[in-house]
Amino acid sequence: MKSYFNYHRDQLFAEDVALADIAVRFGTPCYVYSRAALTDAYHQFADALKTREHLICFAVKSNPNLAILNLFARLGSGFDIVSGGELQRVLAAGGAANKVVFSGVGKTEVEIQYALEAGILCFNVESASELDRLSQIASRMGEVASVSLRVNPDVDAKTHPYISTGLKQNKFGVAYTEALALYRKAAALPHLHVTGMDCHIGSQLTETSPFIAAAEKVLALVERLALEGIKLEHLDLGGGLGIRYDDETPPSITEYAQALLKVLHGRNEKLIVEPGRVLVGNAGVLLTKVEYLKPGEEKHFAIVDAAMNDLMRPALYDAYHEILEVDRRQVANPLSNFLDETTSHSTKLQNSAAKSLVTPEGERTNVKGNSFIYEVVGPICETGDFLGHGREMAIDQGSLLAVMSAGAYGMSMSSNYNSRPRAAEVMVDGSDVNLIRERETVQQLFAGEKMVV
Ligand code: LLP
Repeated sequence: MKSYFNYHRDQLFAEDVALADIAVRFGTPCYVYSRAALTDAYHQFADALKTREHLICFAVKSNPNLAILNLFARLGSGFDIVSGGELQRVLAAGGAANKVVFSGVGKTEVEIQYALEAGILCFNVESASELDRLSQIASRMGEVASVSLRVNPDVDAKTHPYISTGLKQNKFGVAYTEALALYRKAAALPHLHVTGMDCHIGSQLTETSPFIAAAEKVLALVERLALEGIKLEHLDLGGGLGIRYDDETPPSITEYAQALLKVLHGRNEKLIVEPGRVLVGNAGVLLTKVEYLKPGEEKHFAIVDAAMNDLMRPALYDAYHEILEVDRRQVANPLSNFLDETTSHSTKLQNSAAKSLVTPEGERTNVKGNSFIYEVVGPICETGDFLGHGREMAIDQGSLLAVMSAGAYGMSMSSNYNSRPRAAEVMVDGSDVNLIRERETVQQLFAGEKMVV
């Protein structure tokens, strides 16, 4: 997939804007998104599915910034939400309620009522008790709720266990063996209207086969239902398509879409998909500054101003994010001054230029003599606070780094741990830069707190 973050004369740009300029204007840490990358990914999806009736429901949890939601809404997207808060965001961003599907195992009464009032497209119901609750609330409100059961197809997504959701032992969805009975029950309830079936087996999948296996199992159920006169209007095959962080080779959006179309061939239900990561992941980077270089006996540390509270994925999933120097021009690395003869040189790479380092853009053009291998860590008081292990870079204190592929589950999973205000977010559009979320202030962090006297 084309990258919108490229080097020009050894300076890293987002579209036509130097990341270094963004750091000067907005400070660091800062999330930077490319509008063209977001738009391009959405178009690829929509184009690949254009031969059949479909609805792309962007998974809001992957990046809920209003500017991102608004951009997708204007491109025609619907939304997959998992909370009342996400619905509120979608509506505030100009998204259409009737293009919203509501997933999640723990929908509260208040959330269900709010979604019914808003008139969402469908509730993806995940248990028998949720079905009862939905039916009661709809009947109390004099509404009819559109329902799809999220079926757990018991398929191994072959991804990180924390983000695998389609196995029997996971908390998600209705057990495959119980789905038919629950559909019969739902179909008989007057305030429910059975419209679809859905599944979502996990995230960051790098193969097509688990998606197909899940779809086939879902289709077998759809056919059983049809025999009983329960006809569905849509099939929601969830999200989960992976992206390249390191050396993964996930199917392209087109390959993935073609595989889905193939398995649905000959059917006429509307197809719903819920992609998150693949639409935003590679459209964003986390820009951070090196505060200190700290040489050690075994490891050298580059202490940066972004931390696990800004990007939790490395700490939580041991996830890999490529880290690039924003300025690749020659730097005189002061680390060499720290290193005396007794220092372990096992981590020092003399003459790194002799190694041909390959970046996504191709071979490195410039030659730097002072590369070292660093642990890239944040200032948080936990050993798990790292953004990358063993990264070879020629950097100085004050250098800027770009943590790549941070557009999905980056800002959305950030926290205020260590009383760190959350980062600013900007969206680049050609040569324009738009601040889409101001950096938080410390005052905002404790504005709701009260002392007990
Ligand atoms: N639909 C449902 C019901 C989901 O639970 C999810 C993600 C998606 C769609 C979107 O999946 P995607 O296309 O983004 O893979 N924090 C983790 C990922 C958690 C995914 C949770 N569910 C990470 O940083 O890798």
